[in-house]
Amino acid sequence: MPTRIDNRGSTSATDAPAGRRRPGRQLRWVVPLLLVAVVFVGYALPPYLTLDPGRSRLPVPAAHPQYYPLLVAHIVFGSVALLAGCLQVWPWLRRRHPVAHRWTGRAYLFGGVFPGGVAVLGVAPLSSTGFVSQVGNTMLAVLWLATAVAGYRMARRRRFVAHRRWMVRSFALTLSIVANRLWVVLFVVLLLPQVDTTYGGDQDAMIRAAAGASVWMSWVVNLLVAEWWLDRREKDSTGRRPGL
Ligand code: HEM
Repeated sequence: MPTRIDNRGSTSATDAPAGRRRPGRQLRWVVPLLLVAVVFVGYALPPYLTLDPGRSRLPVPAAHPQYYPLLVAHIVFGSVALLAGCLQVWPWLRRRHPVAHRWTGRAYLFGGVFPGGVAVLGVAPLSSTGFVSQVGNTMLAVLWLATAVAGYRMARRRRFVAHRRWMVRSFALTLSIVANRLWVVLFVVLLLPQVDTTYGGDQDAMIRAAAGASVWMSWVVNLLVAEWWLDRREKDSTGRRPGL
């Protein structure tokens, strides 16, 4: 049965029963989510903390000296967004510790999405995996920033139902970095038998195709799942779904 939102729109009734519950049941998904985030950051971040372009997992284009510093900034701030975002979506923490929620929210936005999103705007158009990835990542960066700005504005106006909906979308986009790694493995496995046929023996062309498809799939699918999840859970007091 769908949970209702009160018509003041100032707080999400969807959260209320979940928030009042002890954290035990929510830990069943919060802990795995945090674990995935910690493992991802623990693997992805360290080579970039050395500030040595030689240790970059991606090719650093010599013609664009700004690429590497922007990539490092993006990964550091992206890591903050990923870890803080996991805490932001934990209903118990949100309801029982609103001050902590506000601080992790500030970390998510001002130490994560905003600087990470701006930095990646200088990286995405230069992606080594080709035009499809470049367009997909630039679009993702723009939406990542736009959803976070919308969520922040709603919070400032104390429109907390809309705030929560925008932040769920924002976090779905943040999580797309993790989904991306799964999609790329799937697509490489699918396309590997076609290297000699479709790609005329050019393995790099196959990798570019797999990378481009996974960039798009990672955020489009995550966003669709977020919309489905929001619509499934939320109806306002008149039984209608909120507009934003
Ligand atoms: C959601 C918006 C995001 C966008 C648009 C984005 C975009 C990009 C782009 C364009 C690159 C460079 C790819 C290339 O040059 O081929 C990159 C690399 C990277 N990004 Fe993001 N990213 C996002 C979120 C995140 C988050 C939240 C993290 C969390 C840590 C992250 C971690 C990384 C890492 C680790 C790399 C380097 C890849 C590697 O070392 O294998 N990104 N990202």
